[in-house]
Amino acid sequence: MSPFLLTRTLPLDATDAALRADVLDGLTRKPKSLPPKWFYDAHGSDLFEEITRLEEYYPTRAEREILRARAGDIAAASGARTLVELGSGSSEKTRYLLDALPDLHTYVPVDVSESALTNAAEALPAERPGLAVHALIADFTQTLELPDTPGPRLVAFLGGTLGNLLPGERAEFLRDLRARLSPGDSLLLGTDLVKDEATLVAAYDDAAGVTAAFNKNVLSVVDRELGADFELDDFDHVALWDAEHEWIEMRLRARRALTVKIPELDLVVPFEAGEELRTEISAKFREEGVRRELAVAGLRLDEWWTDTAGRFALSLSTAR
Ligand code: AVJ
Repeated sequence: MSPFLLTRTLPLDATDAALRADVLDGLTRKPKSLPPKWFYDAHGSDLFEEITRLEEYYPTRAEREILRARAGDIAAASGARTLVELGSGSSEKTRYLLDALPDLHTYVPVDVSESALTNAAEALPAERPGLAVHALIADFTQTLELPDTPGPRLVAFLGGTLGNLLPGERAEFLRDLRARLSPGDSLLLGTDLVKDEATLVAAYDDAAGVTAAFNKNVLSVVDRELGADFELDDFDHVALWDAEHEWIEMRLRARRALTVKIPELDLVVPFEAGEELRTEISAKFREEGVRRELAVAGLRLDEWWTDTAGRFALSLSTAR
């Protein structure tokens, strides 16, 4: 059995307080917005897993193709003894890295969801009895205290989730992450790439309506957690390409004028007919932009790998 340690850096009520603050802030500003992290309750996480299997949603398959082809290169270049995985979620892709790193000392999955972490630990290969697992319940956008484990460290931030942060948030996140690393540690980063609008929009507005259900699920979360009376049928799913910022934007558009009561916040929120609530940005990248953002944070881009169709990139960079 692997030694398994679970460290909670978030207080038990942190989620609750953070959700209240985000909903109050986001629904009283103009234009209205909510941060994408609130999609992922158990139902939302299931819907996301379903999205990753959709014909239109290419990023997961593209990233898996690169990982499968490059795991050996990643292991050799990083020489990692500690693997940190941010937003480990279902950890399914981690298997490629673990298999390529036979001398790994510690695996550190980081997620806000305790159930995601215990599932990740259970999915670990039984043939790796010596591997220590130090799971961290933490929000990786908050300052992250990494455990004191042997270096070099490899931090994996996969799936393109960096793109959910606004440019200023990305700069802060990368700078904070670099501050926690030592020279020679590395970052394996997954980034979805700029491509034709039709492919991008289809990936976020699939024919079966799974992404629409995923988008609306944030309203169910607010209803359940804060006693709100959002009706999911009052909103339409919107996915659009912002060519100026080079990001996909998901919104929920009110079908009619309505008001929503949120008793837990003592708040009434009016919506005009057609008013839109932004629920996610998913930025798409180019190599030069990724290189620049990493460099500003003190990370040197060493490797840039794409899938054969050139849709998605994995980059490996080193802390200077
Ligand atoms: C999990 C954040 C990478 O931005 O593509 C999928 C989330 N949103 N469909 C993404 C998502 C709509 C996804 N990430």
